[in-house]
Amino acid sequence: MNSDKTNLLKETPTDHEILDLIKNRWSPRTFADTPISAADLNTLFEAGRWAPSSNNFQPWHIVWGVKGSETYDRIFNHLAEFNQNWAKNAPVLLLGIVDTKTPKGDDNYHAPHDLGQFMANVAIQAQSMGIALHQMAGVDYKAALKEFEFPETYHVATAIAIGHYGGDLEDVPEDLREAETGPRSRKKIEEFTYNGNYIKHADID
Ligand SMILES: Cc1cc2nc3c(=O)[nH]c(=O)nc-3n(C[C@H](O)[C@H](O)[C@H](O)COP(=O)(O)O)c2cc1C
Repeated sequence: MNSDKTNLLKETPTDHEILDLIKNRWSPRTFADTPISAADLNTLFEAGRWAPSSNNFQPWHIVWGVKGSETYDRIFNHLAEFNQNWAKNAPVLLLGIVDTKTPKGDDNYHAPHDLGQFMANVAIQAQSMGIALHQMAGVDYKAALKEFEFPETYHVATAIAIGHYGGDLEDVPEDLREAETGPRSRKKIEEFTYNGNYIKHADID
């Protein structure tokens, strides 16, 4: 069988120099067969654990499952079909969940922000270990919350596929192969930064 290996690195046209760990991170849909060990997972969660959070509430909660386990299947079954088509390649699946209330019971509007910081720490730590994350909004968040018996005031924000970079292009549906190899793109800094009032994109040349 003709097996086209995926890129381990993607073209990332930065405008300014940044850390290689940030520059070289990307979100693949194929993964190497190499398993993620319990020690790897603890290192990743440890990195996440030291993320800053509003009032140090640490509102993040993570459900994790290793391929072949019941928990993995229970997470997988709640992914959107589009994501199931490729997330089956990942040796580990997570759910990123937040407690939307402060310990006093008020709304914690910063909880998703804090989970994002947790996951950014995990992603950069992972990158240093040759491990990639692919985060997913495409998850049945209401059903997943019930499935894992979280209180109703919690929210499943994301699912995350984790594995070592690698694998074959033929591991993903044909229409997704180009995305695996093409360059990464981003808005220009001028499109989202303001040294003063908000300016509509169209007003920026
Ligand atoms: C919160 C969040 C939700 C995402 N949801 C999905 C998803 O459901 N399916 C998917 O294939 N990719 C998803 N992505 C991946 C993004 O499309 C990807 O990060 C973006 O295109 C930038 O690519 P890069 O991470 O390779 O730089 C998501 C990423 C984030 C951070």
